[in-house]
Amino acid sequence: MDMTHPIGVTPLDTIQDGIVGKPLDRVDGPPKVTGTATYAYEYKEPDGIAYGYLVPSAIAKGRIATLDTAVAEKMPGVVAVLTYRNAPKQGKESQQVSPELVSDRIDHYGQAVACVVAETFEQARAAAYAVEIGYAPDPIATELAANLGKAFEPKSRGNTPADTSSGDAEAAYASAPVKVEVRYTTPLQTHAMMEPHATLAYWRRGQLILFTANQMPNRGQAILASVLNMPKDNIRIVSRYVGGGFGAKLTPHPDAVLAALASKVVDRPVKLALTRQQVFHSTFHRSDTIQRIRLGATPDGKLVSVAHQSWSGNQPGEENFEAAAEVTRSLYATPNIMTEHRLAALDVPVASAMRAPGEAVGMLAIECAMDELAEKLDMDPIELRAVNDATEDPTKHVPYSTRAMVPCLRKGAEMFGWNKRKAAPGLVRDGNWLVGLGVAAASRGNPLQPAKAWVRIGPDGVATTRAAMTDIGTGTYTILTQIAAELLGLPPDMVRTELGDTDFPPSSGSGGSFGAGSSGSALYDACMTMRQKLMLSAGMSGDGVVFKDGRVTQGNRSVTLASLAGPGGIEATGGIEPGDMHKMFSQQSYGAHFAEVGVDADTGEIRLRRMLGVFTAGRILNAKTARSQAIGGMVFGVGAALMEAMELDPRFGMFVNHNLAEYHVPVHADITAIDAVFLPELDDKSNPLKSKGIGELGICGAGAAVANAVYNATGVRIRDYPLTLDKVL
Ligand code: MOS
Repeated sequence: MDMTHPIGVTPLDTIQDGIVGKPLDRVDGPPKVTGTATYAYEYKEPDGIAYGYLVPSAIAKGRIATLDTAVAEKMPGVVAVLTYRNAPKQGKESQQVSPELVSDRIDHYGQAVACVVAETFEQARAAAYAVEIGYAPDPIATELAANLGKAFEPKSRGNTPADTSSGDAEAAYASAPVKVEVRYTTPLQTHAMMEPHATLAYWRRGQLILFTANQMPNRGQAILASVLNMPKDNIRIVSRYVGGGFGAKLTPHPDAVLAALASKVVDRPVKLALTRQQVFHSTFHRSDTIQRIRLGATPDGKLVSVAHQSWSGNQPGEENFEAAAEVTRSLYATPNIMTEHRLAALDVPVASAMRAPGEAVGMLAIECAMDELAEKLDMDPIELRAVNDATEDPTKHVPYSTRAMVPCLRKGAEMFGWNKRKAAPGLVRDGNWLVGLGVAAASRGNPLQPAKAWVRIGPDGVATTRAAMTDIGTGTYTILTQIAAELLGLPPDMVRTELGDTDFPPSSGSGGSFGAGSSGSALYDACMTMRQKLMLSAGMSGDGVVFKDGRVTQGNRSVTLASLAGPGGIEATGGIEPGDMHKMFSQQSYGAHFAEVGVDADTGEIRLRRMLGVFTAGRILNAKTARSQAIGGMVFGVGAALMEAMELDPRFGMFVNHNLAEYHVPVHADITAIDAVFLPELDDKSNPLKSKGIGELGICGAGAAVANAVYNATGVRIRDYPLTLDKVL
């Protein structure tokens, strides 16, 4: 089916006390905690696995001048040393993923310059250090702030143009009675997912099989087809369990390309894991940003002009920019609004999507600028947002499908005790702690991707569903189980959900907050077709057909699904295509973040004391996994506000703190009382489930609420993230 019309009443609307929405425990929980969920690096078959190790470049740009692999090749257990001199010929770059070991050129620090293959990981690693490489470095430009002069207007990022303009933001700003002009910066960031990138690759009769950690197997298949110059159908990607993605695994990385090449050369299965340190330079990261925001308002707080400009960096030739100003295009009502992105070519590793690309860092700026405007207007920041609530998208000039930002702000204010906040900063103390409250809105786009799904009921009455979808820790296995169970009238333990294999029907994969809606809608469609087939087989039609307890019942007649499936079983397929609803309506999930922080009056140490997120995202498919996802996003927001930053050494184009000891993310002790709630909503323009994306909603705005709380506590406005104690003092 496709989304060309709003969705009418569906079985999910009418089933009483149903399974969808319930806080069902994760169906993949037991295999994960008992160690039977197999991750890419853990496969022990096929026999004869050799181990690869990536040798990274020690310079950011230039040439390999000398290369000597003789010593490495004679080391114990070494099977092969691949370099640009002997690596197989490959194809073309695709979606920021490049062939490996193609020439003596080096474009970034950490680029693979060799790949050692040995009988064991340890032998491969030891030999990697014995590969002797001499470099002829070129001069480099790596710092964003120092290279703004050369920044250019990049091409559209998918459907996202670099620039938008509605009305005349410049003129309206010039004549605005109240003005705020601010410059915020956000640092280089890395995904910091728990499982580093890893691949097991082998070849069978011309087919390449990769067990790899990947968020979007079908996209990965297409990318590798280009990079390796082979037909897509000859590549199979298996990603049954993925230990966190956050954008780091939206594409295959050098582990996959090198494992495929090495396996071809040595004619054995090859496993290759990136070390944690290598992940920082040999995969992608999020660019730092410099953001300039100008807000013009009337004395009663109506925005008359919004201008949001953002600069980010990427490798020369890359067009992918950090779309920090994109969120501002739909955030608040104003007749005059302009957004602009510029990109500087920098000799750093490839910058790409990470955790709510755009919004996550854009809202760190715009939602603090709104706080600054509220203070200037002497208005409560919630009232300022309410006054500027929008009834149509101010850039696209189309209605919203749903927009409940203000109800989230109001509900959160009530739950959090916002009325206890003192508007003037620095007035509340608890012992040596200066205490402050902050608020920010949350908004995240709600995309839908094409997806297909397959379902079969076997002779035992058990339903099996399949799609090349992934569960990256988000709960996909569980919500798809719930959807099938609900629609087929089966208890959840009579449904088996199988994911993460390109041999299954193509699906959206996990990314961009579209995974649950897209893959879930495809399965919904497959299950609706299955219901028709079952009714036909049972000789039922018309109203009053009920699917429940493994039976289909109408009036006095009741048949088990097992008997209808018969010895051969019964199958159905389904799919979803984005239609016009995403063009006719502006679609976002919304919310509000509330944070309370304490700042040590002497040391400037910042501690989060409590935090609440209130969200609306259409139908919630599982109350428990949704809450966990939202809280996880909020924790990211705390990290972005207070800790996360890669420190660039501009002399070498390398990230100095390339490990999880020095790249700080919040740990349990950093997060005390935190909660997330969802207000009821259905979005009939979004997808057949009437759900909306929540994958990245939690991070959007969360850090701004923390930063606004720090200001409220101290009266110190820090505009360079992260807010570390040295900047408070
Ligand atoms: Mo997300 S950055 O699309 O995994």
